Amino acid sequence: MTDTKRENILETRDVKLWYGQKEALHGINLNFPQKGITALIGPSGSGKSTYIRALNRMHDLEDNVTVTGSFNFNGTDIYAPTTDTVDLRKRIGMVFQQPNPFPFSIYENVVFGLKLAGIKDKSVLDEAVEKSLKQASIWEEVKDDLHKSALGLSGGQQQRVSLARVLATAPELLLLDEPTSALDPVSSHNIEETLLNLRDDYAMIIVTHSMSQASRISDRTAFFLNGDLIEVDTTKHIFLNPQSQETQDYVSGRFG
Ligand SMILES: Nc1ncnc2c1ncn2[C@@H]1O[C@H](COP(=O)(O)OP(=O)(O)OP(=O)(O)O)[C@@H](O)[C@H]1O
Ligand SMILES: [Mg+2]
Repeated sequence: MTDTKRENILETRDVKLWYGQKEALHGINLNFPQKGITALIGPSGSGKSTYIRALNRMHDLEDNVTVTGSFNFNGTDIYAPTTDTVDLRKRIGMVFQQPNPFPFSIYENVVFGLKLAGIKDKSVLDEAVEKSLKQASIWEEVKDDLHKSALGLSGGQQQRVSLARVLATAPELLLLDEPTSALDPVSSHNIEETLLNLRDDYAMIIVTHSMSQASRISDRTAFFLNGDLIEVDTTKHIFLNPQSQETQDYVSGRFG
């Protein structure tokens, strides 16, 4: 079979993860389509961060973590010994809860990954900076200050620069772990608008504690509880007509 467009960008099967002896994920089966936003919801400690960090092998950086299961990312076996994690993390970019700009200029932040990949041509870098900052909806605010420190920006602006830095390396999949929970409402709104603008072009997985955020921006929602995936469906279904009583209780605010 050649050139068949894959329906899913990522298919994960029977994902289990242990921190030392403690099993934190008990066999997650979850697929993600080529485009659009999937929200991961669930109470604190349900395994949302553990799961998405497994997707770009962030746990490789910790001791004592064991991961099993299959992870097929557009034909790449994520945990194959031959898979290069630097390349993988370019293809699967991640935005964290706390904005984490490097202590460099805005420009240097955005080109960081490209320079790491050996790109030196100034016109290529300039173009990538403008394109990525536009995609992250922050170009107008910073275009005259590109050589000022990114640390001088507000938290919400820093988060959009962090997003631009990730977008600059042209990822295929974006992971966002509570990207707005450290931000004020206006900045959160800006990030949401930005993600909505990207949803036709990217596959995104966003962890959120905000039911309203999940319902505003996601196409699909997956509910995690105690290291299990309880159910995944269109966001509308999960919020209006979930299959499981546990999902119903969570989305209606009865626990978590
Ligand atoms: N580094 C670690 N070492 C040991 N246990 C961990 C570690 N990180 C997470 N855990 C445990 O794994 C389980 C899942 O945690 P995880 O951080 O994935 O939850 P979460 O759904 O992201 O929660 P939150 O909404 O609070 O961010 C919890 O029981 C947690 O205590
Ligand atoms: Mg978490």
